[in-house]
Amino acid sequence: DLVPVILSGGVGSRLWPVSREMHPKPFIQLPDGQNLIQKTFLRACRLPGVSEILTVTNRELFFKTQDEYKAIEGADCAQSFILEPFGRNTAAAIAIGALKLAESHGPEAQMLVLAADHLIQAEDAFADAVAKASQLAADGWLVTFGILPHYPETGFGYIQTRSDTALGHGLKVERFVEKPDLATAEGYLAAGGYYWNSGMFCFRVGTLLEQLGQHAPEVLEAAAAAIERSDISTGKRHRSLNLDPAHFAKVPDISIDYALMERSDRVATVPCDIGWSDIGSWIAMSELTAPDNDGNRLEGEVLTHASTNNFVHSCERLTALVGVQDLVVVDTPDAVLVAHKDHTQDVRHIVKQLKSHG
Ligand code: GDD
Ligand code: MG
Repeated sequence: DLVPVILSGGVGSRLWPVSREMHPKPFIQLPDGQNLIQKTFLRACRLPGVSEILTVTNRELFFKTQDEYKAIEGADCAQSFILEPFGRNTAAAIAIGALKLAESHGPEAQMLVLAADHLIQAEDAFADAVAKASQLAADGWLVTFGILPHYPETGFGYIQTRSDTALGHGLKVERFVEKPDLATAEGYLAAGGYYWNSGMFCFRVGTLLEQLGQHAPEVLEAAAAAIERSDISTGKRHRSLNLDPAHFAKVPDISIDYALMERSDRVATVPCDIGWSDIGSWIAMSELTAPDNDGNRLEGEVLTHASTNNFVHSCERLTALVGVQDLVVVDTPDAVLVAHKDHTQDVRHIVKQLKSHG
């Protein structure tokens, strides 16, 4: 069995003001009308051999998530949920998912960990990569999906491989480095042989639990204790596990990348070219809309004069640009963002300020 596990937890603060706590990045509607979590669900459901999808998310987002899944045509997969009272990072979410799958499907089952907020534009290539990853996972590898890097991003994990370490369907990973600093990332790009970690993983459940036990036993033990104290409810179309806050809070707050991938020597990667993007900023979002003759990418009702290379996302009102270049303008009913194109990563600082002001 291959069970996709969709992780939906981040807020996506770089996509403010459209991304909010109760309307986070997976729910942002793309120009084609679907949102990222719907696309993720559909893509997972269409994989050969998949009949059930597990979603790990905040309990406040449960109904919203179910509604989004319901609204997709042609995605006939059973749904189960693990509901968190608050975010405890990805190691916790993955460990609890694995423990539940071990219970229901046994240690030979495989989990395909997917982020709810990534875009993958080449679906056939994705399915092909998953098939390869699944073969490696069956052999006891912790499998990552390697993306060819094209700039020194410091928000990603880097995977070092050597071409003489082929494993048939992928490569053995020499070293996994989560979020290096800029100089280090530049060095990796210059050296070659490095991939970005896409943030998706394929694990045999038994292997993952054994490796977590070896490299992050505190996470595994606390996760098991949290499950024991939690409630299971069964609806007409779904099963869900509601995690108990007091026990869940005891799981260390660490990502799977630091807790396991950097530490294990059982990591492999399937290099793939799947049109992947984590839509990490408004620049990445803007690239989903084609530019006009002036290089402006415009969503919604927008008029321009003597303006070039801007991006405008205008939800409900008319926006007009006159004599401006290289701006990102995002208009929503209660907040407007105006940013220079080179600084869209810094939008998260505004969200921090908002939080500290209450
Ligand atoms: N359920 C749940 N609970 N999901 C979570 C939580 C949590 O507490 N924290 C994060 N997630 C989800 C996010 O919604 C996202 O879908 C996924 O897990 C990854 O978390 P991010 O917070 O987005 O991680 P990142 O972007 O900093 O880094 C990861 O992804 C990069 C690629 O985009 C790492 O795996 C990097 O190595 C990788 O390069
Ligand atoms: Mg991310």
